[in-house]
Amino acid sequence: MTYTLTTPLYYVNDKPHLGSAYTTLACDALARFQRLKGEPVVFITGCDEHGQKIQRTAETAGLTPQAHCDGVSEQYRDLWNRWQISHNRLIRTTDPRHRQIVQQFFARVEASGDIVEGRQQGWYCVACEEFKDDPHEAQDPECPIHRRPLEWRDELNLFFRLSRYQEQIETLISQPGFIQPASRRNEVDNFVKQGLRDFSISRVNLPWGIPVPGHEGHTFYVWFDALLGYITALLEESDAADLDTAIARGWPASVHVIGKDILRFHAVYWPAMLLSAGLPLPAKVFGHGFLTREGQKMGKSLGNVLDPADLLERCGRDAVRWYLLRDIPFGEDGDFQQQRFTDLVNNDLANTIGNLLNRTSSMARRWFEERVPPASHATTSNHPLAQAAETARYTTLKALDQLDFRSAAEAALQLAMAANGFLNEQAPWSRMKQEGQEAEVGNDLYAVLEAARITALLMAPLLPDLSSRMLIQLGQPVPESGADAPESSTWVEQLQWGGLCCGAPLPEPSPVMARLELDACL
Ligand code: MSP
Repeated sequence: MTYTLTTPLYYVNDKPHLGSAYTTLACDALARFQRLKGEPVVFITGCDEHGQKIQRTAETAGLTPQAHCDGVSEQYRDLWNRWQISHNRLIRTTDPRHRQIVQQFFARVEASGDIVEGRQQGWYCVACEEFKDDPHEAQDPECPIHRRPLEWRDELNLFFRLSRYQEQIETLISQPGFIQPASRRNEVDNFVKQGLRDFSISRVNLPWGIPVPGHEGHTFYVWFDALLGYITALLEESDAADLDTAIARGWPASVHVIGKDILRFHAVYWPAMLLSAGLPLPAKVFGHGFLTREGQKMGKSLGNVLDPADLLERCGRDAVRWYLLRDIPFGEDGDFQQQRFTDLVNNDLANTIGNLLNRTSSMARRWFEERVPPASHATTSNHPLAQAAETARYTTLKALDQLDFRSAAEAALQLAMAANGFLNEQAPWSRMKQEGQEAEVGNDLYAVLEAARITALLMAPLLPDLSSRMLIQLGQPVPESGADAPESSTWVEQLQWGGLCCGAPLPEPSPVMARLELDACL
């Protein structure tokens, strides 16, 4: 079965934000992990381009909405390329095929009797593109997320009969694996328990949207349109715009990875829409936390927004990925702290991992003719580092399966730390000076190089660049995890102890990870 995973489809009202990069990097690590395990993967990201927010932004910029969307979606495309995100699809909801998919889907929902006309009154946040739960009589309410005034709306719209799906949604969200992390379930539970109300799925007087067939003057509500982007995205380039074809290409999704802000849409509205259209439901919705910077919400007014393009330029892919994935428990809120960022990258990557490889490979080359030393007992599974490697392998694989990137990163790092400890205890530099110790030194260096090889492989989904520089330095093949990776992968087998061949040439070492200077990312 295809492993289909998605990021949210990002609004193109502004250039990409560190928050969008965060979700996308995490999904990239997950997509690479699945490919390394040999799963066929469709990794979907994209841009959400319709609705009032986009229309207004374009007007303010003096552009047509389409020209505005073309410009910003290009920035997304360019950024993901620079980050080497391994997505298989980048869907834009202004894609002409998407319009047809939305209309075909709507026809199924309408045929199920789930579309009714109604009057929509309420307080609306254009930035969220969402009606808020504030009471009608509220005076000047504001959006708790955007801190901007809500707008009063009173329109005749088409409604989706969400209320019909109360029981099915309750059953769905009570399934242990559906909403993750489990700590986020309560919030959705409480919302559903209050009783699901029908929601409007069309707008009048909003030209920047997909027209609703058979309902003159109505365009689809941007969320109804956007969620379906996950399905349109499955179409291959040569496919006609046909809902069943798209479904056959990899639906249902294995996981929708999103921020906690949009959990309700994914865990309640979306499954109900799919049920109405008679389509299978995604297996899991993972709502991660929000990033702040030095304890403050990132925002234009504070002038503290971290630009992911800038960060990449100054600090590099490995450093940023490591910090975000290793330091912030995926699922919880996290704070971007410059000092901690620099410290972690320098300690973990430059010192613990980079130096370990560099110095061990230098010793092996100097004393063993530029080759992996001959070894006997170090190649067997009862060597202490073999056991450390087995623990790291087991923990990393299990953690990645659960999107627990932090535990996965820590487990790989632990192995490098164990290898450093072992090296310092054995002190081959002194032992080599003693007579008759060469064979033991060979075994010790072999074990440390082997631990470095397994560390590098375990890091492949998390930090593909650093992982490949390490493997190249060890004279090893680099497993493919990118968008075009072959479906057959031997990565899991390669994680077994003893894979390094004694006597294989060791290339000349050069530092695999540069240190970061504290002010590099300000
Ligand atoms: N267009 C909708 C999603 C439609 S999906 C069918 C949308 N777009 S958005 O551009 O506002 O992106 C929201 C997502 O960006 C969040 O769910 C989260 O994944 C990411 N983030 C935006 N700011 C963030 C932080 N400060 N921290 C972490 N991630 C956040 O909602």
